[in-house]
Amino acid sequence: MNILVIGPGAIGSLWAIKLQQDGHQVAVFGRQTESHYQCQFGEHSYTFSNRQINDIKHADLILVTVKAWQVTSAFDSLARQIDPDTIMMLMHNGMGTVESIRTLLPTNPIVLATTTHGAFKPAPTQLFHTGQGETFIGAANEQGHRCQFLCDVLQHAFPEVHWHPQIEHALWRKLAVNCVINPLTAIHQCPNGNLAFPRYQAVISRLIAEVGAVMAAENIPVHLEELTTHIDCVITATSENKSSMHQDVYHRRKTEIDFITGYLLSRAKKHGIAVPENEALYHHIRTLEQQWESLI
Ligand code: PAF
Repeated sequence: MNILVIGPGAIGSLWAIKLQQDGHQVAVFGRQTESHYQCQFGEHSYTFSNRQINDIKHADLILVTVKAWQVTSAFDSLARQIDPDTIMMLMHNGMGTVESIRTLLPTNPIVLATTTHGAFKPAPTQLFHTGQGETFIGAANEQGHRCQFLCDVLQHAFPEVHWHPQIEHALWRKLAVNCVINPLTAIHQCPNGNLAFPRYQAVISRLIAEVGAVMAAENIPVHLEELTTHIDCVITATSENKSSMHQDVYHRRKTEIDFITGYLLSRAKKHGIAVPENEALYHHIRTLEQQWESLI
């Protein structure tokens, strides 16, 4: 397939490399203006064409791995170049971006994805796969339901990949993980594993109880005990990791808080559910962001 990866950060580059290794024609669209993007992975260096209009026009699949807050602005300029049949696949932390893509690209099949693979890019051209994970994909519009074959394509390139008939269930589960791990590790500037310490257990249970209440109101099947065990498992499995929000706060970059905790708050408001613990974390992160925004 002709595949374009928009946003070759850590996860985007990992998929670009795995798909190229599997024989696909892969190009990227990154921030750097050079016509080629090169990335060292293991023993090898991989080269992709970068920012070429023809790669957009001829893509069978566009994999969008920019941060949630960059999705709309990325498409403002690119949407006109995209063929109406190109499959759009969004893969990022957080929720709430697909609505704008449905409006911008009303005819395109849209697929949403969530992955637990860990990747780390210590330098702009160097990549490490830091944790084996799995990926769920599923339809986000009528046309997206015809794209189940993508599961086999992606599974062949980078297993395990599963088709999820209700992808929003998987996205909410990942949102719950991110609502707990990301703001806490960002505020305390600690690795994920520190959240297993006893001093965090009370706040974590209150956060999970609030997220669970909103999920139930959204008709997402949820069992608090099972969700708690799942989040504990992610904390253990990624114990050495610095979460993405931890890194964003460390580097004084804009975070994904509006699409993680912010999305939860907006759904909670709609259902009239109080989520004070999540609200406090949201305001804490926003206050940090505003401190460095005001310095620019
Ligand atoms: O955002 C992240 O860093 C990841 O989604 C997760 C699962 C919290 C692991 O660090």
